[in-house]
Parts: sequence; C-alpha cells; structure tokens
Amino acid sequence: MNNKKILVTGGLGFIGSHTVVALINKGFKVIIIDNLSNCHTEVLNGIQKITGETPEFHEIDLREKKKVKQFFEKNDDLLGIIHFAASKSVGESIKKPLMYYENNLCGLLNILSFQSSSNLIFSSSCTVYGEADKLPISENAPIKKAESPYGNTKQIGEEIIRDFCRVENDFKAIALRYFNPIGAHSSAEIGELPLGTPQNLIPYITQTAIGQREYLSVFGNDYFTVDGTPVRDYIHVMDLAEAHVAALNHLIEGKEETNYEVFNLGTGRGNSVLQVIRSFEKATGQQLFYKVENRREGDITAAYANVEKANKKLGWQAVRSLEESLKSAWEWQKRCVKHKKYRLYFL
Ligand code: UD1
Repeated sequence: MNNKKILVTGGLGFIGSHTVVALINKGFKVIIIDNLSNCHTEVLNGIQKITGETPEFHEIDLREKKKVKQFFEKNDDLLGIIHFAASKSVGESIKKPLMYYENNLCGLLNILSFQSSSNLIFSSSCTVYGEADKLPISENAPIKKAESPYGNTKQIGEEIIRDFCRVENDFKAIALRYFNPIGAHSSAEIGELPLGTPQNLIPYITQTAIGQREYLSVFGNDYFTVDGTPVRDYIHVMDLAEAHVAALNHLIEGKEETNYEVFNLGTGRGNSVLQVIRSFEKATGQQLFYKVENRREGDITAAYANVEKANKKLGWQAVRSLEESLKSAWEWQKRCVKHKKYRLYFL
C-alpha cells in the first residue's frame, strides 16, 4: 500500500504520542493535529529521537470548523484517523461542564463532518461501564449513567459515531475503551505530562517518590477487595499504543464484522492500590510514603477488563508487566526532573 498517511489528533498528548511512535514503527506516515492545550511541542523531539522521524504537525483547535474543513480539503488522501484530542480530567469536567461538552463533542462532530478518510479510531474509556455488575468487564456490559461530564462526553461520543456509521455505510469506526493507561516509552523520551497536581495514581506515586510531594494519599481501604483498596486494570501505554495500530489495520484490511465496533483495552488483570505501591517499590527500589485517607468521591470498587474480544479479533494482547510499566513511569519521572522544558508541568 503506497498511501499510509494517518492523522492523529491529540498526537502530542500522553497516549497520542506513544501511538505516533507505534505507527511510525510500523511504517505509517503520521500527521499530527494538536491545540497544545495540555502538552508541549518538545514531545516532537522525543518522537524524533525514538523513531528518527519528525511527523508533520499542525496546531489546530478542532472546535475551529473552518480550519478543520480546510485541513481535510488539503489532506484528502488520508488512510485513517485516530482521534485522541479531548480534555480528560474528571474533576475539571465537573467544574467546567460546558467546556468539556464543547471541546470533546464539537471536535468530534467537526471531524465526522469533514473527514477525508473512512477509517476512524475513537479514544473511549472504561468509565462508560461505571461500577460494573460483573467482573471482568466485557464489551456487552451495560453502560451506566455517567458520573461526570467527562465520562458523559465519552458515552455521547460513542453514540454519535454509532449513529453516523448507521447511515454512512462506507464509513468504519472502532471505539477503544481504555482501562488505566500508565507508564512511558522505554527510552524515557516521551511520557505522561500532567499539568499541576496529578489526579491519577501513577504520576502521584512517581512525584512522591522523587520528593515533589510529601506523601501519597490512598483514597480508602474499606472497599470489598483483596486488601480494602480499589482495584484497577493498569495497562502499559505502549501496549495501548500498539492496540491502536492493530485496530487501524483491522479496518484497513476490511476485517470488521460491522462498520462500528467496540473493544476493551486492558491487561485482564486487576491490581489494588496497595499492590501497585508494592510493585512500584519492588521495581524501582524506592520507598513510598503513603497515608490512608477517606474515599475519593466517585471512585468505584473494582474494574478490570475482559480482553478476549481484542485478543481474538485484533490479534493483540498486552505483553508488558505491571512492574515494567511502573519502572518506565519512574524512569520518565527522573528524566522530567532533569529536563528544563518539562519541569513546569510538575510544579
Ligand atoms: C480516573 C477517572 C476515569 C478516567 C481515568 C483515566 C476518576 C473518578 N476516574 O480513573 O474516569 O477514565 O482516570 O485515566 O477520576 N488513587 C489514590 N490516590 C491518588 C490517586 C488515585 O489512592 O492520589 C486511587 C484511586 O482511588 C483509584 C486508583 O488509585 O482507586 C486509580 O485512580 P486513578 O489513577 O485516578 O484512575 P481511576 O480513578 O480509575
């Protein structure tokens, strides 16, 4: 195939940048759109160092209809689109619901309206399942009422794409429901850059271990789990990135059963917060200070994926261990402290 041009929106973000690397590794030519609202152009250098290639980059906000239209008119030969660009903080979405609905949904609508490729991969989340009735969670588990505007934008985003696929028979899409993405590329050239105080567990752990935070708050130890702390399915971001390439190839090769499909992306294994802390200590030799505090509002007891569908149909499975994931997050954290341009993200 000559034309291997893939558009990656949000391609300078955490999962986006790792997926760009995975795509380039497989011989795709990547074009990135990002509005730089939660990332840094320095990430392009990281991608270059890992792959030897600097992808074409356009600073575009996907809410700007005219610019999106112009982009697709100029780039009318795309083989596929992977759409990550969206805001992702649960807490912020509760404070700024309109911003979340506008950013996450208008961007998607503009892509669907003007797209110049019939293969779309959409970045969704296991948050659509809420507190599932059955574990591990499979794709046909009921969708629960969203706990936050962020979660709701993922549910509505999936519905918009499904409805679009129903009438556009030539258009094909896959929604990927991620469990908890963690870690960084093994080179430590790219990784997660949380702005301000991190809300997610792993960046908080690495910042505590490096001395930027006094201690980690463990939000509750009275859950009905192995040790009382909540259980999640933590997946290495490079495993997740490779799943995007597998999903894209699935569409390109015409292997889809229907023109809208949904897949869970996780490891299939659940780990509690205390198990993660212990694995981190073992993987890095660092001792972590933590205090058990009250539960965090909105947190669920346990979520881990049934990944049979992705294993079977996409021919993909997560291969990296929890310890490897945590070690890579730690290497990245150490790198960021040294890296002047990234330092401001960790204040
Ligand atoms: C969160 C979001 C989810 C989103 C996902 C993306 C919430 C309620 N949910 O999931 O919608 O899709 O991130 O990555 O925010 N924990 C601590 N101390 C901390 C931070 C976290 O004990 O400082 C615990 C939490 O209680 C949870 C686990 O660590 O049990 C994982 O938390 P987190 O990384 O925030 O992910 P989720 O809550 O699963």
